Amino acid sequence: MRKKDLPIGVFDSGVGGISVLRCLTRQMPHEDFIYAGDSANAPYGTKSPEEILNLTLMQTDKLKEQGVKALVIACNTATSAAISDLRKKYTDMPVIGIEPALKPATLVKEHPLVLVLATPATVAGDKFLQQVHRFEHDAVIMPVGCPGLVEYVEKGQTDTPQVRARVRELLTPFLAQKPDAVVLGCTHYPFLAGAIRDVVGEGPAILDGGEGTARHTCHLLEEGDLLSDRKRTGQVMFDMSLPGQEALCRQLLQDS
Ligand code: DGL
Repeated sequence: MRKKDLPIGVFDSGVGGISVLRCLTRQMPHEDFIYAGDSANAPYGTKSPEEILNLTLMQTDKLKEQGVKALVIACNTATSAAISDLRKKYTDMPVIGIEPALKPATLVKEHPLVLVLATPATVAGDKFLQQVHRFEHDAVIMPVGCPGLVEYVEKGQTDTPQVRARVRELLTPFLAQKPDAVVLGCTHYPFLAGAIRDVVGEGPAILDGGEGTARHTCHLLEEGDLLSDRKRTGQVMFDMSLPGQEALCRQLLQDS
């Protein structure tokens, strides 16, 4: 098979990366994708950087063995802990990561107040600190570690009273300051956007990195002459570490 006809590998700690996969399939409808989610070990965001790195390498090795032409790490937490190791290891294909969408958030108005919702591991990581340094002159950036949210999405709960109560509990301390933008810095959170919108109200812009990551992936594949020239609609295959999660992935992809 020609390299350009191989599938694109997409990885997340669980079902959250479907929020990126939906952007990828829209951006590149003729491509095939293999989606690998490690729901058996989710959440990653409360684990140590070493654990996250090892789990990510194990899962991405499996994707590599299946023959993919590019790897999209559709997980902010895994990107933070593992992206440089992954790029050193897989030198023969593009490796694309995702990070909280701070740049568009800084543009919503002059010197905005930006809440960044992400996993505890992402907000504690060096990569995020460096990102904050890059933008701290343009905005007031407030990281909000959100333990507990990923678990709801993994159970298929995106808008239950429990989800709303947890979102309210996490965000209420910041609402009096009237944020201008809320960045969803974990790929599971776009599925909670309805509950988050209800809690923060109509004021702030809510942003995530899915579209930007899909555009960047498409651009890199184009540059490397790796875009498929087939005209049929691409297929999505799932390789979930927890049996039963494939049905939830398909549902989330279809509903979005
Ligand atoms: N979806 C992942 C992210 O973007 C993390 C979820 C987890 O904690 O496992 O950060």
